Amino acid sequence: MNSNTSTPSRIRSYVRREGRLTRAQVRALETLWPRFGIVPEGVLDLDAIFHRQAERTLEIGFGNGDSLADMAVAEPEHDYLGIEVHRPGVGHLLLEIEKRGLENIRIINDDAVQVLQHHIADHSFDRVLLLLSLIHI
Ligand SMILES: C[S@@+](CC[C@H](N)C(=O)[O-])C[C@H]1O[C@@H](n2cnc3c(N)ncnc32)[C@H](O)[C@@H]1O
Repeated sequence: MNSNTSTPSRIRSYVRREGRLTRAQVRALETLWPRFGIVPEGVLDLDAIFHRQAERTLEIGFGNGDSLADMAVAEPEHDYLGIEVHRPGVGHLLLEIEKRGLENIRIINDDAVQVLQHHIADHSFDRVLLLLSLIHI
């Protein structure tokens, strides 16, 4: 508990930083976000969002989204939802979606903790991924 309030505190897993968006990412956020981005309101109807019933994977904190795009290419019959707070990463993934012609990815640009608490029904996903890339130097 916070010492001066009765609201339970929680550890925040990120720092909000806009970072630098490339021109291509700005264009992707303007033109592709309406097609692939989701601004959650209420509990998400994933069948309606993906226009089908399918096995589904949630990736929390997809970074630049390259591994998410790779998985979506490898399994076109499978749906992927990615949640990421960092907008340049969202812009990067939108460009990959366009470049690879993917239809089976949707993106939420928000805090995954809030999204999971308020917008995702139980048993919505077959897999939940939280990946940390290892950089070898
Ligand atoms: C260590 S990076 C890993 C990125 C990617 N999964 C990889 O393996 O390269 C963690 C990522 O999670 C995102 N992140 C951290 N907390 C988050 C949260 N609460 N909701 C959504 N994204 C979050 C960060 O912005 C960052 O892109």
